[in-house]
Order: sequence, then C-alpha cells, then structure tokens
Amino acid sequence: MARLFFALWPTAPARAALERLAADVALVSGGKAVAAGKIHLTLAFLGEVDEARREALRGVAAALRAQPFVLRLDRVGSFRRARVAWAGASEAPAQLLALQSSLEEALRAEGFDPEERAFHPHITLARKTRERVPSASIEAIEYACDALALVVSDMALGEYRTLESWPFGRDGGR
Ligand code: 2AM
Repeated sequence: MARLFFALWPTAPARAALERLAADVALVSGGKAVAAGKIHLTLAFLGEVDEARREALRGVAAALRAQPFVLRLDRVGSFRRARVAWAGASEAPAQLLALQSSLEEALRAEGFDPEERAFHPHITLARKTRERVPSASIEAIEYACDALALVVSDMALGEYRTLESWPFGRDGGR
C-alpha cells in the first residue's frame, strides 16, 4: 500500500518564488513552511492504494485529454480548520477545473473514491499554522502546467516522489 495523489508540479522558477512566499506565510501564520521540493497542487487525493490497483491509475491518467495551460497564482489565504496557508488563483483557469473534474470522473468510473469535497485549487505553503493568513493579493506567480504527475507520499521519509507523469498534448490530445 502507498499513499498516492495526482498533482501538478510547479516549474523551477515558480517553485523558487513559492518557496520564498512559503517562508513569508509561515512567518505570518506561525506555521511550518512546506519544503520547496514538496510544493505542488493536488488534483485528486487517493489515499492508500495497493500495488495491484496502480495499473488502473496509470490507465486513467493515460486516457485523459488535456492541453497545457497557464496558472496564475495571485492570492494567499488560509484554511482555518486544516491549519494550512496557501497560494491560489482568484480566477482558476477553465482548463484546470475541466482537468480536475474529468480526472475525478474517470477515477470514480474505475472504482476509486477521491475526495468528495468541492475542488478548491490551492498550493499549500505552510502547515500547522497558529494564526490565519488574511486573504490578500500578491505579486502573481505564473507558470505553465504541462504534465499530470502520480505522486507517492512517503510518510517515513517525509518526501513526495513522482511515480510517473503524463505530458499534456499541444493539440488537445497526447
Ligand atoms: P493539502 O495540501 O491541502 O493538505 C498530499 O498529502 C496532498 O494531498 C496534499 O496536497 C494534501 O492537501 C492532499 N490531501 C491530503 N489528505 C487529503 C484528504 N483527505 N483530502 C484531500 N486532499 C488531501
């Protein structure tokens, strides 16, 4: 069994900018900044999945049709109950929402049970926050999302590893 999720990784320059922002929001919130190498946007959280079911996940990802799109992160804020501070987009790109909903639908069709809560696209920057981070606009961090990644969360090592990634096609297919 392994704890898996589908995610979008930032580009290297965006990751560096998000790392700086994470240090800021950690300071403001009294939380712990997410390590640069772990900064990502979750599309679908799967929880524990056994080895035998991984092939089905690969099939879902390989069958998805998506095009690269630009994500413009222009806000910070926090989820009080989850005690996280995040970066987000005041206007989530339609392609991101479409990608997430088709991924979720395909996962359900294959018998997976991803998180049922409404999708609030965000990139967690700090955890275990003590104070909320007032919702505010920031100097935008913009980058192209061009691949879907299947990621394993290794709780023992405290790291995320990409198992496989699927580039988005430039002509609507792959
Ligand atoms: P978070 O950043 O908002 O905490 C790896 O743990 C990723 O999966 C994180 O991005 C985390 O979201 C997300 N995640 C963890 N548990 C989850 C759950 N029960 N439902 C939805 N997403 C979850």
